[in-house]
Amino acid sequence: MKTTQDFATLLTAIHEIVAPEGSSLEEKLHAICALLEREVAHYDWVGFYLVDPARERELVLGPFIGAPTEHTRIAFGQGICGQAADTEMTFVIQDVSQETNYLSCSPHVQSEIVVPIFKDGAIVGEIDIDSHALAPFADADNVFLEQVAACVAVLL
Ligand code: SME
Repeated sequence: MKTTQDFATLLTAIHEIVAPEGSSLEEKLHAICALLEREVAHYDWVGFYLVDPARERELVLGPFIGAPTEHTRIAFGQGICGQAADTEMTFVIQDVSQETNYLSCSPHVQSEIVVPIFKDGAIVGEIDIDSHALAPFADADNVFLEQVAACVAVLL
């Protein structure tokens, strides 16, 4: 588990990834995934889903770190990611086995957190994190990841 201070240090590092000109959106999002997966022990799969502007209410998988997933496109309402997009709310699932509307990527995943990214009041994407631990998420994770989402929103 990370302390608020640990998360503050990570948030500074994320701002430093986002700020520079010269690297692409893909590179920056990928670097953020890599940092989070490396630095937070209970983050085992870290990725971005982006709202596809070309399709009605559909998410498309963006940069990620972790096992490949078959869920490269997710309709709003489908699975945890789709429900978070539909309701525009953070979803914290401490035990995925208790969920009926859940899309499994790997049998190792026990819990998941999905945080929407907003731009000008509209949802433009999500941060999706899977954990191999049961009930690993604390309020500090929500607060931190919502700060990360606000930071990343300037890129989208
Ligand atoms: N478990 C997610 C699908 C995405 S994977 O975790 C990468 C869901 O239920 O929406």
